[in-house]
Amino acid sequence: MWNRREKDKIRKKIFTNIQELGIIKKYLCLPGEDVLCIKTGKSLGVFTTDTHILAYENNTSIFQKIKNNNILTDFNKLSLHHQDITESQHKNIDFAFLDFCGTLGVKEAMWLQELLNNGISRNGSVAITMLWGPQTPPQLYKLAQKFFKNNNTYEQHILSSFKNSIGMPIDKDINKFIPCFILCCVLQNHTFDTAYVYRYKDLGKRTMQVIQLIGIKKSQKNNNFPSLEKILQQGGEKQKMKKANVDWSEAGRKSWETRRLNMKKKKRSDAAKRAWVTIRKNNGG
Ligand SMILES: C[S@@+](CC[C@H](N)C(=O)[O-])C[C@H]1O[C@@H](n2cnc3c(N)ncnc32)[C@H](O)[C@@H]1O
Repeated sequence: MWNRREKDKIRKKIFTNIQELGIIKKYLCLPGEDVLCIKTGKSLGVFTTDTHILAYENNTSIFQKIKNNNILTDFNKLSLHHQDITESQHKNIDFAFLDFCGTLGVKEAMWLQELLNNGISRNGSVAITMLWGPQTPPQLYKLAQKFFKNNNTYEQHILSSFKNSIGMPIDKDINKFIPCFILCCVLQNHTFDTAYVYRYKDLGKRTMQVIQLIGIKKSQKNNNFPSLEKILQQGGEKQKMKKANVDWSEAGRKSWETRRLNMKKKKRSDAAKRAWVTIRKNNGG
């Protein structure tokens, strides 16, 4: 489903923007099976052979492919982990390219918050991919709706905050709001020097956006967004989440997968019915 051409362009722009930071000493990433971000960083001179690269992959077969990629041997300090990145902890990261394959779920958001608070070096940078639309975890969707109903000024707040600080106007579709709202909450105690937003359609025509923040600093609360903890608590979901240890983003992805499979099955059964009618007709039935 991914749009290779668009993604290549965006990846290159991201690393070109990062060139202004000089050589990256410590890079955190989800390299994916072709390890394209590491290749791009190397070809643009953002990494040297001494850049400390921390790479994560949670899918076993993709992990094996990455492991066998020769480019890994070009780096003296590269560690590849077969692990979910949201279960890792970091310090002094200069640049993190968090190219998740889906929307920003609660689990990723909580982890990103911790990374920004304690894992990114002063003036470090982060680029994060977010998907709009049906993959939004349903629980998050419900929470955000509840939140907006109780705080009707927030829609306006998000619209202006994104336009002013991230430089991107968003439309008022709740699906598009949610990842932006969550990112605003995550960023509430941070400022950054520059932000770039790239938007593109993947081949399934879903809208993806990549947000790149350069020069991140901790600050006094710089906007009035609620903390993630607060919105979870307000929805009464935090306890539930703890109790059931639910992985929300995973649950969202699974429910989307199930819907897709059911759609496919329905199409198949419709096709089977049509074929059966044809066979009956042909047999004079
Ligand atoms: C979109 S690809 C990365 C592409 C690459 N960054 C590039 O520049 O082309 C994302 C990869 O991260 C893996 N992934 C997604 N979420 C993850 C997570 N939470 N922990 C570890 N790996 C994850 C996926 O299996 C996939 O291989």
